[in-house]
Amino acid sequence: MVEHELYRKVTQAYNARFQHPPQLIVRAPGRVNLIGEHTDYNDGFVLPVAVDQAAWLAVGLTEEPWTTVRAMDMGNDEAVFSVNQVPASVGGWPDYPKGVVWAFLERGLQPPSVNAVLASDVPVGAGMSSSAAIELAFAFAWTTLGHFDIPLPDLALLCQRAENQYVGVNCGIMDQMISACGKAGHAMLLDSRSLERRYFPLPEGVAIVVADSLVRRSLASSEYNVRRAQCEQAVAHLQKYVPEATALRDISLRNLERFGRGLPEVVYRRARHVVTENDRVLRFARALYNGDIEAAGMLMVEGHRSLRDDYEVSAPELDALVEAAMEVPGCYGARLTGAGFGGCTIALVAEEAVPEFQAHITEVYAARFEKRPAVYVTHPADGVAVIQ
Ligand code: GLA
Repeated sequence: MVEHELYRKVTQAYNARFQHPPQLIVRAPGRVNLIGEHTDYNDGFVLPVAVDQAAWLAVGLTEEPWTTVRAMDMGNDEAVFSVNQVPASVGGWPDYPKGVVWAFLERGLQPPSVNAVLASDVPVGAGMSSSAAIELAFAFAWTTLGHFDIPLPDLALLCQRAENQYVGVNCGIMDQMISACGKAGHAMLLDSRSLERRYFPLPEGVAIVVADSLVRRSLASSEYNVRRAQCEQAVAHLQKYVPEATALRDISLRNLERFGRGLPEVVYRRARHVVTENDRVLRFARALYNGDIEAAGMLMVEGHRSLRDDYEVSAPELDALVEAAMEVPGCYGARLTGAGFGGCTIALVAEEAVPEFQAHITEVYAARFEKRPAVYVTHPADGVAVIQ
C-alpha cells in the first residue's frame, strides 16, 4: 500500500505545502455493490464490496486555530475553516470534511485542527461512492488524531449523518458502512436495519469488472428522493393490512400481491422492485456461499431488469453495457451498480475471459454511443485504515 501512487502523491504534496511530513496517511475506499440496490433505505439487505479505488489523505495536527485542507483533484483548491464552529454548507467538496466536523460536534466531540492533503481515484458521479470515501477518510483521521473511541460502524453512521444533514443528500447507510467495514477478498452482506454484517469470500478466478458509461445525470438526487417517497407511500398503504410492517423490508411478495392492488401502478412497481431485490440479495449470498457463481450471475441480471422496468433508474447506456456483457462467454452476470441514472455497471467475469469482455463491450458501446466506456477490473479491498 505504501507503494501506491496516491500514497506518494499526498505525502509529497503535504511535505511541500506544510514543510514537514504528515503524521498519518489514511485510505478510505469507494465501493461497488454486487446486488441490493435501493434496499438500504427500506431497511433491507445489500451486498457491496470495497474497491481498489480510494480517497487518500495525508494529515497532521496543527497549532493553528484553523484547519487547512488541500484537494489535489480540484486543482489544489484549499478550504480553510475552524473546527470549533462550522459554517453552514455552501456546496462543493469542502462540505465533506466540514460535514464530518459538524457531525463530531453534534456528538459532543471536538475534533482537533489539522492540515491535510486529499487525493482520490474514485471516479466522481459514477455511483462508486466517492463522497463516502472522502467522509470516512476525514472521520477516521480525526478519530485517530483526537483519540476518540468510536467503533467503525458508528463512524459510518456519523458520516451518513454528515451527508444527510449537513451536505443535504438523503442517502442510506450502505456506502459509508462498506467504506468503513469492507474486507479484502470479501463481499459484505449488510442488514440495513440491525447493521449486522456477514462476509462472503469471492470465488477464485472470477473478476469484478466495472464499466463506467461516463453518463452523469444531474437528475439523480431529485429522482432518488422521489423513489424514497414512493417507497414510504407504499409502506403507509400496506401497513393497513400488515400492521407490524415499518418498512418494505417487512413485506413479502405474497403480501404485496395481495394487498398492493390499491396502490398507484407506479408505486406498486417500485415496491415490487424492493421486495424482490431483498430476496435476490439473500439468494445471491447463499449462491456465493455454495460457490454457485452461475446462480449469482443470473440474479444480477434479474436485478438489473427490475431496476430498469420496475424501479426505472437505468439508462439506455447502462442497458446496452449489460446486454453486451451477457453476450460474452465467461460473463456470469452484469447489472447497473449504485443509484443508477448513469454511472457504472459491474460484471462478474471468468478471469481468462476478461480481455475479450473488455474488447467486446467497448466496441459495442462505442459503436452505439460514440464514446468509449472506462472498463477496468477491481478487487475487494479493506475498509478505511491508516496506511503506514
Ligand atoms: C446511493 C446511496 C445508497 C443506496 C444506493 C442505491 O449510492 O448513497 O445509500 O441507496 O444509492 O442502492
